[in-house]
Amino acid sequence: MTNPEQMLADLEWQIAMGADESLGETPGLVNWPIKPPKPSFSRRIDDSEIRDSAPFGNETTIETKGSPESFKYTSIQAYSQKPANLAPESGLSFRPKARTVEELRDELQKFEGCGLKTTAMNLVFADGNPEAPIMFIGEAPGEEEDRKGVPFVGVSGKLFDRMLAAAGFSRQNVYISNILFWRPPGNRTPTDAEIASCLPFVERHIALIKPKIIVPLGGVAAKNLLRTTEGITRLRGRWTTYTPHPDSGLDTPIPCLPTYHPAYLLRQVNAKRQAWNDIILLKKRLADNN
Ligand code: URA
Repeated sequence: MTNPEQMLADLEWQIAMGADESLGETPGLVNWPIKPPKPSFSRRIDDSEIRDSAPFGNETTIETKGSPESFKYTSIQAYSQKPANLAPESGLSFRPKARTVEELRDELQKFEGCGLKTTAMNLVFADGNPEAPIMFIGEAPGEEEDRKGVPFVGVSGKLFDRMLAAAGFSRQNVYISNILFWRPPGNRTPTDAEIASCLPFVERHIALIKPKIIVPLGGVAAKNLLRTTEGITRLRGRWTTYTPHPDSGLDTPIPCLPTYHPAYLLRQVNAKRQAWNDIILLKKRLADNN
């Protein structure tokens, strides 16, 4: 029989791993094979838990017990099912073979290389018009997106829709996806390994959509697409170029305009003006293209 201290530690661990709701009446239905050491993590702030007192931003994390490093270790050990997929020098050796967007979605459904899949409810692939000239790329699905399997349908998604509408766009004439295709448990910050496992799919996604313009929303998207360590405040509002990965099947660079993540704008209302300037730049470039 487990002692109360042990039970409390188990519960803490579950909460730390993002188990924020009970899905069944009977405990212990899922017997995780590996129990990581101590609950410790930093996590993204979910749309659904915006609090006035919380520091907010897409790169903001809430520190809880333990060090982020130990959580990184924990999550890679416990959830990355196929670390063997990782090529020693440069991310993944695995490359999706899909020739259409539908095939890519199917391939992701079968992909076992990202541990987030084991804790998420749904694959969150994309929304909008695959023929659209602009492809927006966010960070990762939150709770609402995970439930519905659609990107940007939570609180920040609502703001994003309003931004689109103000600029004369809608989901019918833009395309939307994320760097991560599954929700990180408890909306924690995705690990490098999780991002690396999804990135070849993102790159293939871009190659299949071939948008005229890519708009990374927030630092995680911007840094990973542009392969830079520069922060979003420096990257946003400046035209740059997305250089496709040589194995993605695309050989033409794509103009890229990073901007703030809508979740950041919900907290930093002053940044909305800058985001609006970015939208104007975007519209101007589109008009010049036509
Ligand atoms: N934040 C994101 O980056 N993507 C979503 O789909 C939802 C919230």
